[in-house]
Amino acid sequence: MKKVLVIGGGGREHAIVDALSRSPQVGKIYCAPGNAGISAQAECVPLKDTDVEGLKAFALENGIDLAVVGPEVSLAAGVVDAFKAAGLRIFGPSKAAATIEASKDFAKQLMAKYNVPTAAFETFEDYEAALEYVKKGSIPVVLKYDGLAAGKGVVIPETLEEADEALKDMLLDDKFGKGKVVVEEFLTGPEFSFMCFVDGEDVYPMTLSQDHKRAYEGDKGPNTGGMGAYSPVPIITDEDVDYAMEKIMKPVASAMVAEGCTFTGVLYGGLMKTPTGVKVIEFNCRFGDPETEVVLPRLESDIYDIFSAVADHTPMPQIQWKKDVTMGFVMASKGYPGDYEKGFPIVIPENISVNCHSEERSDVRIYHMGTTLKDGQYYTSGGRVLMVVGFGADLQEAHDKALAAVESIECDNLFYRRDIGWRVL
Ligand code: AMP
Ligand code: GLY
Repeated sequence: MKKVLVIGGGGREHAIVDALSRSPQVGKIYCAPGNAGISAQAECVPLKDTDVEGLKAFALENGIDLAVVGPEVSLAAGVVDAFKAAGLRIFGPSKAAATIEASKDFAKQLMAKYNVPTAAFETFEDYEAALEYVKKGSIPVVLKYDGLAAGKGVVIPETLEEADEALKDMLLDDKFGKGKVVVEEFLTGPEFSFMCFVDGEDVYPMTLSQDHKRAYEGDKGPNTGGMGAYSPVPIITDEDVDYAMEKIMKPVASAMVAEGCTFTGVLYGGLMKTPTGVKVIEFNCRFGDPETEVVLPRLESDIYDIFSAVADHTPMPQIQWKKDVTMGFVMASKGYPGDYEKGFPIVIPENISVNCHSEERSDVRIYHMGTTLKDGQYYTSGGRVLMVVGFGADLQEAHDKALAAVESIECDNLFYRRDIGWRVL
């Protein structure tokens, strides 16, 4: 039986642990650092997801057969490079390949060079020059800080004053650190998340999902890491998916090889179906969160085989998906994505928490994003706290089951969007 180490401690990692626990080959799962919900399915190890040396030492001492990396910060810290150098098997891209997410400018230059459809753009280091460019173009415009900013480095100003404010934050006051800003054409249309397993030139698509980035109902309020998701996405056609594979995902995988930063792991295309075709909004170098919590529960195949095929560069088995569809609601701390308080007790009724992650129970699963456990009681400990996923024969049924479960969870400091799935229901 295999021993697996999952790196990270959010809802995405809970869904990865949950998928691994369904593999008949996997005996023991560790998760570093994990969280309260994950601790019911894996042994949590108190190591930070950026403690590369600590994680490597743990894997060596405990005879880990395979490590799987969740967060971008671990990848950007070089955890994959360090594990490989130590002869350890690990699923995820190298630090160099992770640049496709860590630097918006790198991703945009790559797309420009290889003719991958995306919004027109220009990159600036100088505040005055950026402001001049924005003044010459049209509003709204999209301003993207060129670095990791936990989903908060993108601003879409509706007025020139707002644009000026944001450019000052990013280029004069270094709010996110010293860096460049990508100024981008504003595109319209439904967005969807296209995650693919990538092993160099070989690209294997996952089923589609759709995130809800804005904090409040009606797609209002600030951008967040994601407030809910569902899978599949019926408004995106098979032709759109073929186009995205042939014109975006495969060319980008090949481009990464050609550029000397071969990608292995999950390449996440954040795509938009615009009136002039499918275009790239962003790339991520890892599973999306909360998309993973609606995609992986639908995976029929053994995920250990898939991770192994990528990590070992061996042939990929046929990837099968279940018929049941999923929709999930994020319950977040009031104030998120801004400041919020932690430490509020959460009461999850027994009828939805007991055996929530067993095969007998398949109508709802609760993935913990930010919780702690003390004396048998869960407490909030993050911005996003729970992702409650419903299953159904169709998206309406999945929606209703998830929402009923959400409404039965008690906590004084959580909010959620009730309109997850509005585009398709
Ligand atoms: P990103 O972090 O690049 O995914 O941007 C966050 C969100 O901002 C996206 O999910 C979109 O909703 C929005 N966004 C980013 N780029 C554009 C664009 N060029 N046109 C319209 N909306 C965009
Ligand atoms: N949900 C979007 C992301 O993972 O970046």
